[in-house]
Amino acid sequence: MFLKNNWYVAGFGEELTTTPLARTLLGEPVVMFRTESGEVAALEDRCCHRNLPLSHGKVEGNSLSCGYHGMVYNTTGQCIRVPGQDVIPSGACVMHFPLVEKDGVLWIWMGDADKASPGRIPDYPIHSDPRWAHKGNHYTINCHHELINDNLIDLSHVGYVHGKTIGGTPGAHSEAQISTERRDDGVTVRRFMPGTVPPPTYQRAMNFAGNIDRWMEIRFVPGLIRIYIGVNDAGQGFDEKTQMDKMGMRIFNGITPETENTTHYFWTAAHNFRVTEPEVTNNFYGEISATFEEDRTVVEAQQQRFEQFPGRKNVHIKTDAGGIHARRVITQLIEAERLAEKGNQAPAGPVIRIAQTV
Ligand code: FES
Ligand SMILES: [Fe+2]
Repeated sequence: MFLKNNWYVAGFGEELTTTPLARTLLGEPVVMFRTESGEVAALEDRCCHRNLPLSHGKVEGNSLSCGYHGMVYNTTGQCIRVPGQDVIPSGACVMHFPLVEKDGVLWIWMGDADKASPGRIPDYPIHSDPRWAHKGNHYTINCHHELINDNLIDLSHVGYVHGKTIGGTPGAHSEAQISTERRDDGVTVRRFMPGTVPPPTYQRAMNFAGNIDRWMEIRFVPGLIRIYIGVNDAGQGFDEKTQMDKMGMRIFNGITPETENTTHYFWTAAHNFRVTEPEVTNNFYGEISATFEEDRTVVEAQQQRFEQFPGRKNVHIKTDAGGIHARRVITQLIEAERLAEKGNQAPAGPVIRIAQTV
């Protein structure tokens, strides 16, 4: 079961050309394409004539033609031409999903199109801010999307899983000063690690002379986790106003269910140091990419055990607070959606606001 009335990342703008792109999102086959005038669109990936995926077709002008018998669809999924006849059969259309390109990201709405408000799409100005350089990728991970949320919201694993990159010194991560801000629409976890040993990735990038102060802010809303990280020489403090620390990092994590047990992971890693040197950006990307491969190993192995032992209980520990709240937010939003579909009132309890914190 998925939360449908939500903006999810469907890809990066640079991926989308006039060649149709097929992707399964929330269990639905979707075809995305860019028209010759540059508009982006997403339709159900299935022709209403004989079910050939429309991703086998091609873009013609501002339309998509089916690769089997040539029926032509506009960007809202309406068939506008049938070769060899003047009359378009009634009901000749496919589902259309609102798709918006913003901050270099493609955002899709898989729920009730009437409720899709582009104003609710989270902001990510880092992608176009010249003070930051970034590079990213898209992976498909073989696990339930909430395991990726857990992984990114609770960074106490960093010391254990990422010893060769951003981790090491496990105690420093487990003992970080943590605060958790719970909201109806998400959760923000803040971590502060004063006077700690710089991990290998930081050392390779900045060659710190001594210990460092690190802060991390992990902002979750359904479908997106933005991680903001700042690093300074120990005792130097942080510039709250500019947030331009000696070493600043911003990680964008778009987490979109593909199926119940597989997840699209769209990520970028941005840095504020040596931003005009592509080699530095490539190296930083390589370090973060290696980190995520370490996470993939963990979450895919967890998934296997969850499937093997679906009824066995898990215990919770202190650092689970953020992840537990994230699960609660998703569960409550799905329940509210389910009741709204049935025409009932939202359940008693905390008010759920869809508006996303930016
Ligand atoms: S299957 Fe698409 S036009 Fe026939
Ligand atoms: Fe990790």
